[in-house]
Order: sequence, then C-alpha cells, then structure tokens
Amino acid sequence: MPEMGEESVADLSNFFPLTAYKSKLGLAESYRVELLKEITKDYKKENIDHKKNETAWTGDVSGFEFLHVRKSFENLFKEISNQVETYRETLKVADNVFDFYYTRSWATVTTNQQDIQFHKHLQSHITAVYYLKVPKDSGDIILEPFLGYNQNEFIPGLLQKKSFTDGTLEPSLYLSPGAGINVETDDILIFPSKTSHGTVKSKAQESRISISADIVAVLKDSNSKEYFLPPLDMWRKF
Ligand SMILES: [Fe+2]
Repeated sequence: MPEMGEESVADLSNFFPLTAYKSKLGLAESYRVELLKEITKDYKKENIDHKKNETAWTGDVSGFEFLHVRKSFENLFKEISNQVETYRETLKVADNVFDFYYTRSWATVTTNQQDIQFHKHLQSHITAVYYLKVPKDSGDIILEPFLGYNQNEFIPGLLQKKSFTDGTLEPSLYLSPGAGINVETDDILIFPSKTSHGTVKSKAQESRISISADIVAVLKDSNSKEYFLPPLDMWRKF
C-alpha cells in the first residue's frame, strides 16, 4: 500500500486522524497464565459448546462483565490505567480535568473460524483491549470508523467492497473503508469507544483470548463546564 503522498507532487493536507494506540503491557507470563485459567473457568461454566457458534464468546453478555473488580485482575488493570494515561497525554488532554472509571470489562474467546462482528461500545468513552493470548492467524482487529462517512468518499457508495474487487479503487489510506491492526500477545490497544470495530475470522487452532475494558471520563470539577459528565458524588438516583 503506498504511503500517503508518496505518488503525488501536490501538497496534500491529510486532516482529522483516528489514533489507535498500541503498546506492550509487559505482564509476566506466569501472571498471564493465571488470568487465562480464570477466564477459561468462566468460559466453561455454562457447560455449553461455544465452538459451535459462528461468533466469539464474549464475557460481557454471559454474566462476566466486571473483571476490573476481581482481585486477580487488579495488576492488569493497574497497568492498563497507566497506558490510558499515556493515551490521554498523546491526545493532548490535560491531566487535571477528568477522572477515568472502568465501567465494564470482559474477556473474549475466539476459536477456529469464529470472528467478532462489527460493533461499537456505545455506552463508553475509551476502550482498551488487552491481548492475553494471540495465536498466529487468529484474526486481526479491523477498525471501520467512518463507514458511510469517509471524508474522501466523493461519490456515495464508492467505498463498497465491489470497488476494490472490480478495479475501480486501489486500496490506499485516502479511500479505505477500514484498517486492520496486527496484534500480538501482551499488546494493549486503545481507541475511542464509538469506533466501529470487529475481527477477521480466526484460522488458528488455538483460542485467541482478549480482555476489553470500557472507560468513562467524568469531570473532576464541573464548575463553569457545560459539557461532560459531572462528578459522580453529585449524582442522585431517583
Ligand atoms: Fe469491542
């Protein structure tokens, strides 16, 4: 795929990026094995053969959506928090305005021929995904943030799949429906929760296991701020 601007002599301004932040978390293998055991226990709890499904097992809709409150996951979430702080810094968001809260976190288990359909985490602000175990060819994550709203799609429908198969379009960063990100074991990926994402079908025999965490940003002080969620201690249930 050509780099942006590579084939052009014109001065191109490419605005409005979507940033997917990827880093190594650096968890010890022994700790990862411990977490894998706990997730496998949850996965097998219902005594159902999840491998028969076309889509991956996701803990959030199976009753295991609060991994962040479990003692055994404490160190994992401490490390994720550090990375989210760096993500915030990278996007030039001040460090004294928002508190960040884990609201939901769950594991996903993808077996051979399974994928995760495109979806958004609509109730959340920031999503972090930790890759606990990524066997070779177990499926990259694809981000499709602007499907139908790509700024460079000057003809509606230009970005349909057929355009790439019939030679109308050559894949490039200018006109692309999405982007794949190659991930490995111990990678952490952070992106805005509103970003549509899914995974490619796994061709691996072993399971791919990841942990997703949804994070909400809440104002530390709402004084003279019109937008953003006010501090939680001022909320009243009725
Ligand atoms: Fe997701």
